Amino acid sequence: MKYCICELNLPMIEPVIFAQDSTRKSLTFADNFKKYMDTTYSVFIETFGCQMNFSDSEIVASLMQQNDYSLVNNASEAHVIFLNTCSIRENAEQRIRGRLRELKALKKKNPDLIIGILGCMAERLKETLLKEEQMVDLIAGPDAYRSLPELISKATNGLRASDVQLSGIETYDDISPIRYDSNGIAAFISIMRGCQNFCSYCVVPYTRGKERSRNPETIIAEAQQLFDSGYRDITLLGQNVNSYAWMQEYNFSKLIEKVAQINPLLRVRFATSHPKDLSDELIMTIAKHENICRSIHLPLQSGSTAVLERMNRGYSREFYMNRIETIRKHIPDCGLSTDLISGFCGETEEDHQQTLSLIEWAGYDLAYLFAYSERPNTFAADNLNDDVPEEVKSRRLSELIKVQREISHRNNKLDIGTITEVLVEGNSKRSDEQLSGRNSRNKVVVFPRMNFKVGDYVKVKILSCTTATLIGEAI
Ligand code: 5AD
Ligand code: SF4
Repeated sequence: MKYCICELNLPMIEPVIFAQDSTRKSLTFADNFKKYMDTTYSVFIETFGCQMNFSDSEIVASLMQQNDYSLVNNASEAHVIFLNTCSIRENAEQRIRGRLRELKALKKKNPDLIIGILGCMAERLKETLLKEEQMVDLIAGPDAYRSLPELISKATNGLRASDVQLSGIETYDDISPIRYDSNGIAAFISIMRGCQNFCSYCVVPYTRGKERSRNPETIIAEAQQLFDSGYRDITLLGQNVNSYAWMQEYNFSKLIEKVAQINPLLRVRFATSHPKDLSDELIMTIAKHENICRSIHLPLQSGSTAVLERMNRGYSREFYMNRIETIRKHIPDCGLSTDLISGFCGETEEDHQQTLSLIEWAGYDLAYLFAYSERPNTFAADNLNDDVPEEVKSRRLSELIKVQREISHRNNKLDIGTITEVLVEGNSKRSDEQLSGRNSRNKVVVFPRMNFKVGDYVKVKILSCTTATLIGEAI
């Protein structure tokens, strides 16, 4: 499928004057692409990493559309290729370097092709990335996407361009994201940017800058507009949505309540929560509104207080357990998911056992599990010893995965025989005869299509399950 946003008129870009070569004619991006006059300028955006990056790519798509680009979903058709990158673990960066090597052939065939690196990796490595990757024409950090047309213009004129300036205020709140990879039912709305929690292992505060919240009016308007155009499942997105704040008027509880009040048929979710900021007020707000989904992602990272302290997480094992007890008390049917890191600096076998026991106790539906990967210039890299051998990290990771698989399967088995309401999102992966959707608890449910269609709410009786999916029939 080809996602075509619009036909191209010439981009409105100011001429770039080159100080180092006064004889050279000032060229606009349009001049340089005269040879493509009869075609459409097109951009291909490939996204790596977290949901925040996918959401940013939708903003980039919108900015490119404003500059008269069409969006294609095939790198070989594009005049400009953007890789929107992730730096969270070393293997994320390695994947992106691997992808760049794959793109070399395209660049060789078409030397005019512009390749840009966007996002966290651009921000972390800055101009070093341009030195290391000769085929990259431009880099732009997460707060620099408005400069993309100018950066492209420079790159088109043979300059290797970069903007990695972080901002204390940029939220792109006037940009209407283009949901180019959407099923038309579920969408993400970015409500804040950046993070200043400085967990000692994490590169995000350095790559995404200071935390800042977006104007609530624009968030509510975007949610309303999505609902009006048929969307039924919205996730409010930020690195730590619990600390959302706008002029003393709005905290996250107030914001989510406003969004939930748009219509009872609109499901509202949020990601990600920091346990230290998960307030009783928010838990009560979720309990009060049936359309705020019964599913909370609450990253634990480690079950050991000593490790949590070294991670600078700002809570203890007991504090975290208290948050879950409060959730269970007020929202008994709430599903939980988490993130965990195995083998952080100084993690002992005893610490690891504490993580395993907390996973059991919490009974998560789902967990994202990672081996610790030291990131340059973080507090941990500069001050703590990455002393857990790689084989121990991966053995502990396997143990976490095994236990979590059993719990996910057990939780799913408990649903057999129950009736759950599913919002249909599309065909099941395995068969067009089956539909797939999620329930409020964020579990994937598959059932025979009959006469149902995408966007319907369907009551489904659960008949069987796998570790990841509930299987049932409509009643
Ligand atoms: N090593 C391993 N995992 C990490 N995460 C963040 N930084 C690192 C790191 N250096 C994990 C955390 C976070 C998730 C998005 O990625 O669990 O919640
Ligand atoms: Fe990283 Fe911690 Fe911020 Fe999450 S809360 S993005 S783990 S620094």
